[in-house]
Amino acid sequence: MTEIMDSPGETMLPYLAHLGEKGIGPNISRVIPGMRYVYFKMAKGPRLGELFVKDLNTELLIKVFESLGYKVGYISKYGIIHGHLHDYNVVVEGEDPILIDWRMSSLAPMSYEDPKSNLSFWMTTNSQFLLKKTKESLDEIEMGKIYPELETTYSKRFKEEFESPLEVSHETIDRNAASRWGIF
Ligand SMILES: Nc1ncnc2c1ncn2[C@@H]1O[C@H](COP(=O)(O)OP(=O)(O)O)[C@@H](O)[C@H]1O
Ligand SMILES: [Mg+2]
Repeated sequence: MTEIMDSPGETMLPYLAHLGEKGIGPNISRVIPGMRYVYFKMAKGPRLGELFVKDLNTELLIKVFESLGYKVGYISKYGIIHGHLHDYNVVVEGEDPILIDWRMSSLAPMSYEDPKSNLSFWMTTNSQFLLKKTKESLDEIEMGKIYPELETTYSKRFKEEFESPLEVSHETIDRNAASRWGIF
């Protein structure tokens, strides 16, 4: 197993452990005591940005963007800001996009009173850069015509996931990280 080190903020570690278990981010392989460093199992595959080439596989891209919509919607409903989500911070394992590079990530306080009113904030915060880079890359290779379908698929899945109830509570995420990794 190849590992890669990262140094996200300490408050992120329980969430990153959870996202690894869900296959949304890379799996954690070890946490260094003191919690400044964490090692991830390396996700294997091309970066999403590398798929934007002349003979790109449109079907694969649609699947990837549907899955991305789900994954980014999932992190958003927990109040997780990736901080630097673009096409080269996504590794595509087969058809499965793994969100990597959590060095800029942070946690925003979430109000669950009216989650629907937060949708556009979270859509912008976690998706704007990714979608903009995607559109630019597709325009560059004269494939801009497929962008609207990618964006629609992504946004629909994002909204569905964002508005669905939390699967596990924040407290459970902390507790699981404490028992598995000794953090929190
Ligand atoms: N294949 C991978 N699987 C899991 N995490 C990765 C992978 N590649 C990079 N990372 C994580 O992302 C961080 C930044 O790496 P990368 O995005 O490749 O470089 P940069 O953004 O500095 O150009 C690394 O410190 C590592 O934690
Ligand atoms: Mg990066």
